[in-house]
Amino acid sequence: MRIGILTSGGDCPGINATIRGVCKTAINHYGMEVFGIHSGFRGLVDNDVVPLTEASLTGLLNMGGTILGTSREKPFKRRGTAVSEDKPAMMLQTIRERGLDCIVCIGGNGTQKTAARLAETGVNVISIPKTIDNDVWGTDFSFGFDSAVSIATDAIDRLHSTATSHQRVMVIEVMGHKAGWIALYSGMAGGGDIILLPEIPFDIHRIGDAIINRLKKGKPYSIVVVAEGIPTVDGKKAAQYIAEEIEYETGFETRETVLGYIQRGGSPTAFDRNLATRMGGYATQLIAEGRFGHMVALQGNSMGAVPLTEVAGKLKLVTEDNDLVVQGRRMGICFG
Ligand code: F6P
Repeated sequence: MRIGILTSGGDCPGINATIRGVCKTAINHYGMEVFGIHSGFRGLVDNDVVPLTEASLTGLLNMGGTILGTSREKPFKRRGTAVSEDKPAMMLQTIRERGLDCIVCIGGNGTQKTAARLAETGVNVISIPKTIDNDVWGTDFSFGFDSAVSIATDAIDRLHSTATSHQRVMVIEVMGHKAGWIALYSGMAGGGDIILLPEIPFDIHRIGDAIINRLKKGKPYSIVVVAEGIPTVDGKKAAQYIAEEIEYETGFETRETVLGYIQRGGSPTAFDRNLATRMGGYATQLIAEGRFGHMVALQGNSMGAVPLTEVAGKLKLVTEDNDLVVQGRRMGICFG
């Protein structure tokens, strides 16, 4: 059996560990041949495919980024496509020419959608959820999330000493696209006083009150963790908007930090390495069992498979009854 593997969408820590998990299991356990497809679905369109061997898998477990390269190519979207370019047909041609029996697609929400469309054309597809945002529906966690949370938590830890020394409000913006998972998990782990998520509406006056109440309790400083996806005005970035509003509301000296792409770079945590390894291995098992058209998922502490048709187009968002939100509120953390 010959399998092709691609990585698509934004990179994150743990992708290379997943590639390693898929390929080593395929080669050593199932005796399959493995081919790397460069730059996501663009490589399938352009027939940019190379064989992967044990030698090409050296040093991948702790390496950030993706050795295959990635892109946000959406081959089933017609807009912006040259009339002469029938990308779906070009992908099928590559798959036929290379004799690939299955395509493993590693990616976030956009990738799951494209993988589902590819499966509809009759191609054997298995996908693996990958995102720092943790917003892929159907899996409890995606690899990359724990690494991003650990980087953001470290950054929040570092803001505490400067916040207390200067008696300032420090606002830190973390990634997450439309979801607040990174803000929630890093905000709670880093001891944030106010945590703002796209999923929970906030009132800026209540945030001001929370900061002033802290002053009354002898805490003339605050740490505010905001998700990049919260609503703002005039196209302002989340941190800038909240910092300006807080300064206006409270008169407190306020500083902002936008953590940015640091959250996506570098080595995965041990948790992410193991999750990536398990997901990669399970994806290969699904191929060997012929259970195509599924996304690998972490369900509780077990590996499971969710039909791609169920995953595509859905987002997993934070809800009010999330344990960490409930516990945070009980401890007096302001969610807005
Ligand atoms: O999905 C991962 C992510 O890092 C989001 O958190 C962020 O909104 C987005 O990607 C940034 O995308 P790009 O890499 O296209 O700038």
